[in-house]
Amino acid sequence: MKRNLISMLDVKDELEKIIDLGIKLKKTSKKGENIELLKGKTLGMIFEKSSTRTRVSFEVGMTKLGGHAIFLSKNDIQLGRGETIEDTALVLSRYVDLIMYRAISNKAMKEFAKYATIPVISGLDDKEHPCQVVTDLMTIKEHKRKLNGLKFVYIGDGANNMSHSYLLGCAIVGMSIKIVSPKNYWPDDFYVNEARKMCTKVEITDKIEGCTKDADVVATDTWVSMGDEKQKVQRLKDFNGYTIDKKLMSLAKPDAIFLHCLPAYYDYEVTKDVAHGPQSVIFDEAENRMWAQIAIMVNLCK
Ligand code: CP
Ligand code: NVA
Repeated sequence: MKRNLISMLDVKDELEKIIDLGIKLKKTSKKGENIELLKGKTLGMIFEKSSTRTRVSFEVGMTKLGGHAIFLSKNDIQLGRGETIEDTALVLSRYVDLIMYRAISNKAMKEFAKYATIPVISGLDDKEHPCQVVTDLMTIKEHKRKLNGLKFVYIGDGANNMSHSYLLGCAIVGMSIKIVSPKNYWPDDFYVNEARKMCTKVEITDKIEGCTKDADVVATDTWVSMGDEKQKVQRLKDFNGYTIDKKLMSLAKPDAIFLHCLPAYYDYEVTKDVAHGPQSVIFDEAENRMWAQIAIMVNLCK
């Protein structure tokens, strides 16, 4: 049966295996050894929203694997003129071996995955961003040498795609997770309940004071995700006071690391001195999108 990665739940049983494969292939490739494990394969990449990292990391990753990637912007394909998701999925499945889809909604993502006869990888939708969270866990493992038992604190929009995928990802690997967010922006119940089924240490709070105490990892994301632009003024008001600054970071463990999937908006969700400071690993994280996705694609094609 074909497999997809459109939710962290899709990799529940093999998450650590994929992370370890990403770390291994990164080392192998950096030694100058060949990692052409998907020679002759083609990845189709559909984008309904903007991207820097997802587009480039998938395309270069596929090249390193000996395969080929095709960039399909919604504006340039018939999907943008009203061809159905069903027909688009059925047609593309006849040409390419894998699809990466950055979708406007989780509903569109699920519909595409239902009709595609080849593996579908989410490049983000409004509910989840699984490739980014596999990447972030790989980055944490590289820096901390373990995942289980670590304390993870996410501050910001608790109802967005990163927060939901972090809830599931941290729970799968046995990390405690605290989401710190104004009450109107708490995660969907579904993700909290699924996380709690796997891990007892899941906390949702609006209390920012002292929230990073003893954290091993502190993370955030934009307060205004793609698709939320109309609510920007209200959101900036609602999130006022939730900026990660040096003071908040100093409460975390001395060797704590800071993560941000990027793009970052400085002095909103985080100050630049933290994001570009000694505890930040945001550029390792950006690079690791490529290595984690290499492992994801190899895993789905096997
Ligand atoms: N983090 C991330 O997905 O970045 P892009 O929007 O640039 O792809
Ligand atoms: N939450 C952000 C992530 C961007 C990579 C968004 O959806 O815009």
